[in-house]
Amino acid sequence: MEIKKVYSVYLSPTGTTEKAVLAVADGICLPSEKIDLTTLKSRQNLSRSFTNDELVIIGMPVYGGRLPFNLGDFFSGLKGNNTPAIALVMYGNREYEDALLELKIRIDERGFKVIAGAAFIGEHTFSQKIATGRPDANDLKIAKEFGEKVIKEIDKALAGKLVVNGVYPFAAKGFNPAQPGHLTKFARIITTEDCTLCGICADNCPWGAISISDTVITDVNKCLRCLRCVKVCPEQARKIIDPEFYVWLKNFEKRLTAVRKEPEMFLMR
Ligand SMILES: Cc1cc2nc3c(=O)[nH]c(=O)nc-3n(C[C@H](O)[C@H](O)[C@H](O)COP(=O)(O)O)c2cc1C
Repeated sequence: MEIKKVYSVYLSPTGTTEKAVLAVADGICLPSEKIDLTTLKSRQNLSRSFTNDELVIIGMPVYGGRLPFNLGDFFSGLKGNNTPAIALVMYGNREYEDALLELKIRIDERGFKVIAGAAFIGEHTFSQKIATGRPDANDLKIAKEFGEKVIKEIDKALAGKLVVNGVYPFAAKGFNPAQPGHLTKFARIITTEDCTLCGICADNCPWGAISISDTVITDVNKCLRCLRCVKVCPEQARKIIDPEFYVWLKNFEKRLTAVRKEPEMFLMR
């Protein structure tokens, strides 16, 4: 099988998933196109179809051991025609539980054939102390080599069977902001008086959770705490201020910095 083009398709609120997906594409070394589906706008009226001589890498972050909640628009806008695909999840050095299996299932049911999977580690959304600066140069080298291997073994991969980590029916619950949990209780993102109502947070929110009138309104039932708004705000006016969050975070950091996890890759057997 001769693959003619590779696509990097991803949702990456804080940019770590994007880095790993692009490194895999780099290793594949074919004409390539980036499809960044992070903002809600980029997924509205999305309709992309791929042929069987193209290869699509699809990447997403892990939230609560699953894919981000409520991403119907991401998957329904992508259509494969027996198109080979690589599923990649990015997690913050805790665990990825069922997320990679969930991604594989959701891509396969859209007409793709997932031939390889990977779980990489990225700096944790909530703390620069956890997996600091990852994916780092070593992670990106591994990602690139993984891309090289997949394209080299594409015929074997297409004929085989792929098994990735995860349990179906899914054991991990993910993070549903509309349901009570520790993050919904104390990780509220507020807007300080430095806000100029520029609207950059609303335009960038992947979940359509922010609207602007004479104040910034955050719909807590839609906000996935991805902190993209915090990172893109030019005035640093978006913040979590709950003291309980920072008490929890201290213990969380202690637990998650004890061991450095390494990328895992799965190929057809
Ligand atoms: C709501 C939420 C839940 C998360 N859950 C997990 C998790 O279950 N396991 C983990 O290791 N990291 C978890 N993370 C961390 C992200 O998966 C990690 O930081 C990832 O690199 C973010 O990807 P991005 O930079 O592409 O947005 C979570 C982050 C958020 C915001």
